[in-house]
Amino acid sequence: MSKSYKIGVIKGDGIGPEIIDEAIKVLDAVSVSQGFNLKYEEMLLGGAAIDETGVPLPEETIKGVKKCDAILFGAIGGPKWDTLERHLRPESGLLGLRKEMGTFANLRPAMVYDELVNASSLKAEVIQGVDIMVVRELTGGIYFGQPRELHQDMAFNTMVYTREEVKRIAIVAFDIAMKREKRICSVDKANVLEVSQFWREIVEEVAVDYPEVELSHMYVDNAAMQLIREPKQFDVILTGNIFGDILSDAASMLSGSIGLLPSASTGKGVGLFEPIHGSAPDIAGQGIANPLATISSASMMLRYALGENDAADKIDDAIKKALSEGYRTGDLGDYDAKEICTCTEMGDIIADYSSK
Ligand code: IPM
Ligand code: MG
Repeated sequence: MSKSYKIGVIKGDGIGPEIIDEAIKVLDAVSVSQGFNLKYEEMLLGGAAIDETGVPLPEETIKGVKKCDAILFGAIGGPKWDTLERHLRPESGLLGLRKEMGTFANLRPAMVYDELVNASSLKAEVIQGVDIMVVRELTGGIYFGQPRELHQDMAFNTMVYTREEVKRIAIVAFDIAMKREKRICSVDKANVLEVSQFWREIVEEVAVDYPEVELSHMYVDNAAMQLIREPKQFDVILTGNIFGDILSDAASMLSGSIGLLPSASTGKGVGLFEPIHGSAPDIAGQGIANPLATISSASMMLRYALGENDAADKIDDAIKKALSEGYRTGDLGDYDAKEICTCTEMGDIIADYSSK
């Protein structure tokens, strides 16, 4: 009997449903050709959940995700829900889900497809061959620190990291570095923040167990600059929650479009796989979204959560093939495009190529 996996699917808001539909199309095609079976269960999160149930993270979703082998997620949020109180906003649903699932390690690869070297706003020679893995701590730091309060004349958040939180994310980064070029740059703001000084000390402690890995430290402002100046100097970037959020968006533009980059969030149990971009409400429903980041996230899911590496390779190769043949969604339409595709057409092409 062929292997069977249960995938929790969270389409979310904005372009979420469109891009997830294409990822599922590709997953279906590749699973048939590779001889395994995927069963999907849809779950609600974010704005879609608010509309249906009144809360951004329904109890049913919390229970549901734990029974799956992996979760594939689109995007959440939109102007419709922007005026809600913070704990009721779609973003709170996503943050709550990450916390509930214990997905503390967010892996955000930023790679440049050779086919798209002209798509970046940076010069081709600066970005050709860039292959960075941002390892972002995802369930701690200022996003979750207590106390946090909003008053009439003042407001505050707390940036807090425990030894255990820093240690476990550092271990993830070092393990990944061992499979890559064995270089880690840990990014912090240790010249100003105690929490960063602490972060640095723990990362140094973990490094002792990985003598082959070259560890450097960089302040986050400098890292932002270096990412644009000479991105090829980086192999693995290890950083906290908010710095990782900012740097991964910056790193995404090396690739030419934020619509290309996937992410994997792993940790204690079930993993969460999602594009790094948002729900793009301005283009939702027009069929012009780029589904490649979500399709790549589905590939990461096959590789990291299900161990279906051949199927993941098929998808990655199919994306490269489609790009090298000049198929582009509108966001990349100006760069060596032979044919501008809709979201659905791009999904069709990748599904076709990855099933061969
Ligand atoms: C991301 C997003 C989220 C984050 C938002 C939507 C809460 O920007 O995944 O990068 O800040 O983590
Ligand atoms: Mg972000």
